[in-house]
Amino acid sequence: MRGKFITLEGIDGAGKSTHLRWIARFLKGRRIKVTVTREPGGTAFGETLRRLLLGGRQRLHPETETLLVFAARREHLDKVIAPALGAGRWVLCDRFTDATYAYQSGGSRVRWGRVGALERWVQRGLQPDLTILFDVSLAVARRRAGRKIRPDRFERERDAYFERVRKAYLRRHREDPRRVRVIEAGRGMAEIRKELEPLLLKLCP
Ligand code: TMP
Repeated sequence: MRGKFITLEGIDGAGKSTHLRWIARFLKGRRIKVTVTREPGGTAFGETLRRLLLGGRQRLHPETETLLVFAARREHLDKVIAPALGAGRWVLCDRFTDATYAYQSGGSRVRWGRVGALERWVQRGLQPDLTILFDVSLAVARRRAGRKIRPDRFERERDAYFERVRKAYLRRHREDPRRVRVIEAGRGMAEIRKELEPLLLKLCP
């Protein structure tokens, strides 16, 4: 039987990585074989691209970034995601195409439809079975990242950018509410896990 494909999303500071570790443990505890992966990344090429995109000093045109993440996604699907799903493993992916809508389109203003065109080309109808969007306010994300309460001009610009990223994520939820489930992530772990459990159990055989 084909495995399930789960992706995790949210602005930086939403607590996604902590939840990812818990979800992986939860599934493994139910004897599900899980492949944990991430984007950008997941393949040797993807990890190289990740270093270039996140650590690079060059500022790339947002459309260049969009094309590059989709090129890496094509490899990731071909080499990791599709084979794992085909072998009956579940794939738990830290960020996927919704992140391109959120960051490149929402944040950096690449046209929404351009991301959609690449999504159709690269994914050929393949979509995650479940996307969990960890949503927090900017204030909470900033507090978690240990930043000061009163932002300076640069931080305000960053905040406006992340506000657009957050809005774009919520638009993805409105466009496909059955797949993209929003978890209000400003709360304690126990409360969040109580909401995650039924979402995961619904996918279990
Ligand atoms: P992470 O450390 O939470 O995985 O963050 C990776 C960064 O990459 C994050 O700032 C979002 C960004 N990103 C994009 O801009 N576009 C994409 O398509 C993906 C997958 C990530």
